[in-house]
Amino acid sequence: MVSKGSIVIGCDHGGFDLKEQIKEVLEKKGFSVEDMGAKDFNPEDDYPCYTSSVARKVADGTFERGVVVCGSGIGASITANRFAGVRAALCLTPEMATLSRSHNDSNVLALGGRITPGRKGIEILEAWLDGAFKGGRHERRIRDIESCTGEC
Ligand code: RB5
Repeated sequence: MVSKGSIVIGCDHGGFDLKEQIKEVLEKKGFSVEDMGAKDFNPEDDYPCYTSSVARKVADGTFERGVVVCGSGIGASITANRFAGVRAALCLTPEMATLSRSHNDSNVLALGGRITPGRKGIEILEAWLDGAFKGGRHERRIRDIESCTGEC
């Protein structure tokens, strides 16, 4: 069953601080948050494992949306996009986040804890949460992502 109003999140050590802040903001906004870890700061906690746990739950429909955070956001977004049906967008500005929703129907937000830490990252998150898919001419492009790339 898809959980609406619920978000799954995860990070590596580079994204740990921002992930904790994101969790707090989401809970204050009334979201139910499933935190796949890392649960504390440990330099050995790497992005492939935690990001995959988030992406898998979006790909299988358990969650509609997820947030992944690593140091740059690059490793997290690359990993999440290996999962069919996941459209992870690495966003460095609120404008990118808004566009990723309206044009690309992004269902995973990727952030770089070292690139957009603290308030900057939260502003991006808020723009992403407020964004909505425009549909129309963008629908075909979204469908084509899956038909052109096939199942992974
Ligand atoms: C970890 O130091 C760092 O490489 C990772 O968080 C991320 O930036 C990779 O893309």
